Amino acid sequence: MTERLMSLKTEVMEELKKAASVHELNAVKARYLGKKSPLQEVLALMKEADPEEKKELGKAINEFKGFVERELEERLKAITEQEIQKKLESERLDVTLPGKTISLGRLHPLTQIIQEIEDICIGMGYEIAEGPEIETDHYNFELMNLPKGHPAREMQDSFYIDVVNLLRTHTSPVQARVMQKAGGKPIRIISPGKVYRRDNDDATHSHQFMQIEGLVVDKDITMTDLKGTLALLMRKMFGDELEIRFRPSFFPFTEPSVEVDVTCFKCGGKGCPLCKGTGWLEVLGAGMVHPNVLRMSGYDPEENQGFAFGLGIERIAMMRYGIDDIRYFYLNDPRFLKQF
Ligand code: DAH
Repeated sequence: MTERLMSLKTEVMEELKKAASVHELNAVKARYLGKKSPLQEVLALMKEADPEEKKELGKAINEFKGFVERELEERLKAITEQEIQKKLESERLDVTLPGKTISLGRLHPLTQIIQEIEDICIGMGYEIAEGPEIETDHYNFELMNLPKGHPAREMQDSFYIDVVNLLRTHTSPVQARVMQKAGGKPIRIISPGKVYRRDNDDATHSHQFMQIEGLVVDKDITMTDLKGTLALLMRKMFGDELEIRFRPSFFPFTEPSVEVDVTCFKCGGKGCPLCKGTGWLEVLGAGMVHPNVLRMSGYDPEENQGFAFGLGIERIAMMRYGIDDIRYFYLNDPRFLKQF
């Protein structure tokens, strides 16, 4: 009988070694200590044994039970340890890994340029004015001293909606709207916004683009004020060293009219591909508000003078960032946009 117990011990040891989980361990426990355990055979035999033998057997059985329990306990410890280790391994967490970056949206480069110019002008006492993108022929042309028959009014240049309304071709009509509202008081405004022309889109043309209009009306305004204002604006945008130059030009709504050049900020005026070797970059159109424009919107040109300017925002952005195709601004390609 003791032999039987010995062989059961080795059997249990084998089974315990094979058990790879808590679940399997419990099965081994049930098999050897439960109701159908081979131990029952030994117990049955015990009934027939004499008292002396019984005592011996009882001791041996208890010893066996204790043995199985200890071994089970030990194995359970080892397996639990293993399982924890496995879990730690598989759920490994590197707390030093960088977190997920949430990419934030940003302002469109044209919006950034507009805000920059607005900030500079607000610093000079300007207010922001807005006008409608659907304009009347009257405001877009007539009040801007563009008489009927002027080439700029030709159908191919403008998007007419009907005989009266069109998509504004420039931000200049805001001048007339602001003057009419101001009722003879001094004016100092800029007006950013979209404008539309019937151009075929290519690297330098877009049927829709953006301008900023500037208008100052007061007493004793001269071209010197215009030049000083634009020089300050341009220096804040492109650098303190920059010079500004006026070239005679023509716009129906200004007299005299000028085109404004600034020292090429890329080469400092020495001449480079950006300025096509001239050392100058053309940035905007400007002039003294034409007496007809003042008069038509309620200002007496004998009493008041004004200056106005209009700049293309895409052009400024293209110069600043070295962009060679205006269409990039309107494709909404994140690879382009995220550079700004
Ligand atoms: N409206 C002109 C254009 O679209 C730009 C311009 C030129 C505006 C001279 C002005 C100005 O106010 O004085 O081409």
